[in-house]
Amino acid sequence: MASRKPCEELCLVHPGYHTGMGGTTFPDGFAWGVATSAFQIEGGWQEGGKGLSVWDVATERTGFVKDGSNARVACDHFNRLEEDAELIAGMGLNAYRFSISWPRVLPEGVGAVSLEGLGFYDRLVDALLARGIQPFATLFHWDYPYDLFKRGGWLAADSPAWFAEHASVVVDRLSDRVSNWITFNEPQCFLGDGHLSGVHAPFVQLGWRAFFEAQRNALLGHGLACQAIRQRALREPLVSIATCAAAGIPATSDAADVAAASKWGLEIQQLAAWHGGLYLDPILRGVWPTCDGRPVGEEFIEVSEVDLATMNQRLDYLGLNYYTSPRVRAGRGGVAEELPYEESWPRSAFGWPINPEGLYWATKFYYERYGSPVMVTENGIWLDDKLADGRVDDPERIEFIRSHLLQIRRALADGLPVLGYLHWTLMDNFEWAEGFRPRFGLVSCDHATQRRVPKTSAAWFAEVARTNGATL
Ligand code: FCB
Repeated sequence: MASRKPCEELCLVHPGYHTGMGGTTFPDGFAWGVATSAFQIEGGWQEGGKGLSVWDVATERTGFVKDGSNARVACDHFNRLEEDAELIAGMGLNAYRFSISWPRVLPEGVGAVSLEGLGFYDRLVDALLARGIQPFATLFHWDYPYDLFKRGGWLAADSPAWFAEHASVVVDRLSDRVSNWITFNEPQCFLGDGHLSGVHAPFVQLGWRAFFEAQRNALLGHGLACQAIRQRALREPLVSIATCAAAGIPATSDAADVAAASKWGLEIQQLAAWHGGLYLDPILRGVWPTCDGRPVGEEFIEVSEVDLATMNQRLDYLGLNYYTSPRVRAGRGGVAEELPYEESWPRSAFGWPINPEGLYWATKFYYERYGSPVMVTENGIWLDDKLADGRVDDPERIEFIRSHLLQIRRALADGLPVLGYLHWTLMDNFEWAEGFRPRFGLVSCDHATQRRVPKTSAAWFAEVARTNGATL
């Protein structure tokens, strides 16, 4: 395959990208796609020599998954990748974000490589490219190798190098065809939910000192992986990370409220694992976040300049996973004061308030703070939609996507560089501790028969993508 610069085929990052943009169009080369993760769709939990992940082990524990299910088979994507690539192509999408299961590629996390595991991603990439779909590969979406967890996981001093080894193995195999690399999905979740509150695998409640050790190692792992990608990739890589991207919605248009909202979740006001700034300040600005002028967690951890330099690798864009956001006003001294979600706001079946406006503010505030173009790497809604007479009508999902895309169009009209929109998710899948009950897909999937049926929203989204947003 002729090697072209990735931006020639997907126009991801190029000078002048967001100049001369009107208020009604999306730029040429805007990425229209869907996102998934390995654990949530692949199944094949012990096929092809795959090792166990902490999520495999977690979901075997009775009582953990709310509906008593597990992801041993999930959507059986491991055995149905061609059919699933065809579903994406059927929607005319030009981008697909998936994750690589670390223990599928390296069953013990490091060392021996599973050729069968790598071969699966090889075939997936080929199936996508054959259909004109750009692959966006996430190197880690929470399914940490169980064998490495037993060796200390993110607390182990070697853990940054372990992750870099995984990145290197995958990049060596796929980078002749893959340009888009996302190191982590939502460090807030695998560190905060997995290692502090312990509500997600591997269920540890470390306390702040050890949490910061794990956080530092993960950020170092991100940095080493970025270096490995840039050193080894055969095609010019575009490197990114996907963050939880809630943003403050200014309570009023008053400048003080807007300024307070811009800080919310990014400037640290109190210790909390979900603050984006805790991860993104070192990664994108090369500085350790502060709280009241003092380094965050200084009583627990010291981070050297050398560490910061490793964490701070240039990214080509920042991935925003956007679901919901609160309203924020300026409190005393301009501090960001979060207002309670209003009862009257519509909610998804998950109970998450639906407020598309926050997506506009997320693109603006993250771009202004970090200076990287942004890409919406996730955005979606759990609805209790049902298959009836062979079809699923989901007008609420259409309205959800439409309202969020309008906010992206607003951001583009303001000159903010938004590179694409990857909807969460392709098909109804295994939603972590919630099991199979949540339905987030554009395509319904019956997990007993594995029958896939595109919902009404899939056809609607296809038309939006086909017309590059003109039909919105
Ligand atoms: C995000 C996760 C994704 C999925 C959606 C609903 O936080 O990245 O795997 O669970 O939420």
